[in-house]
Amino acid sequence: TRPLKVALLGCGVVGSEVARIMTTHADDLAARIGAPVELAGVAVRRPDKVREGIDPALVTTDATALVKRGDLDIVVEVIGGIEPARTLITTAFEHGASVVSANKALLAQDGAALHALAEEHGKDLYYEAAVAGAIPLIRPLRESLAGDKVNRVLGIVNGTTNFILDKMDTTGAGYQEALDEATALGYAEADPTADVEGFDAAAKAAILAGIAFHTRVRLDDVHREGMTEVTAADFASAKEMGCTIKLLAICERAEDGASVTARVHPAMIPLSHPLASVRGAYNAVFVESDAAGQLMFYGPGAGGAPTASAVLGDLVAVGRNRVGGTTGPGESAYAALPVSSMGEV
Ligand code: HSE
Repeated sequence: TRPLKVALLGCGVVGSEVARIMTTHADDLAARIGAPVELAGVAVRRPDKVREGIDPALVTTDATALVKRGDLDIVVEVIGGIEPARTLITTAFEHGASVVSANKALLAQDGAALHALAEEHGKDLYYEAAVAGAIPLIRPLRESLAGDKVNRVLGIVNGTTNFILDKMDTTGAGYQEALDEATALGYAEADPTADVEGFDAAAKAAILAGIAFHTRVRLDDVHREGMTEVTAADFASAKEMGCTIKLLAICERAEDGASVTARVHPAMIPLSHPLASVRGAYNAVFVESDAAGQLMFYGPGAGGAPTASAVLGDLVAVGRNRVGGTTGPGESAYAALPVSSMGEV
């Protein structure tokens, strides 16, 4: 079988793990896909940085030329941010490749347009890694629960803020001290404002709400409040009421089914709720649906190897589709439901 050619855009914390696993698990990946995968190029910003295990001949700073090659099967985008990621993904579709992305900001802003473009070109767009790292959520919500009706999704989808709140709760540490530790451990975004002001969680909430309710929700639709104002006193009062405080992404379908809401804010939850026991930088997403009842998805929501695990899963899925001459579920499965950003808390 002809090998599938894969280009990697970005070789940072996540990208380097993707490249490593592609090499170490090459035989397993080939067996699962039905064709070997070949790393055809790696686009980076800093070419001088030593990248163990990657053939220097594959490294380029010209990401545009790489996605324009025309012989690529799959482009893996792990650069993050809106541009140049959006243009590179668009160019990849136009030049015949399918795309695997871990880009929550881009998917939350332009997911619908990118899906439409993928469909127009008969290609796949997969992004399991964009929400909650290694935790399988996109495919379970889109596929495994497609015959059920999801009514509510409650998520701890930002590891940095969960780490901070957990630390404040259990050790009485101050906000700044806990944030510094989360940054040192590598959980926080380059600019931790995205974490602590809830932008990161809001992007993930938009993606989750769109998938769970088979509609379109954009970042702008999500009501957002960060966690910078939570104090030790708030934790003390929560404790008195048998509760703790978590930064939650809350996505709900209105009772009449005619609209959906998505919001992110600090919330008190009873200690008896499964989300209360999510510690450190872990993530968890609690799903309520008509037939299944209550489900919880739990695991590492950030970090190189866990996020790479989700990217590789998508690579296998897209690779299989490619070998079988098909594509996965696209935008046509979506219905437009009105989104109201404010729900009752
Ligand atoms: N900064 C994010 C977090 C990384 O803390 O969860 C994963 O998106």
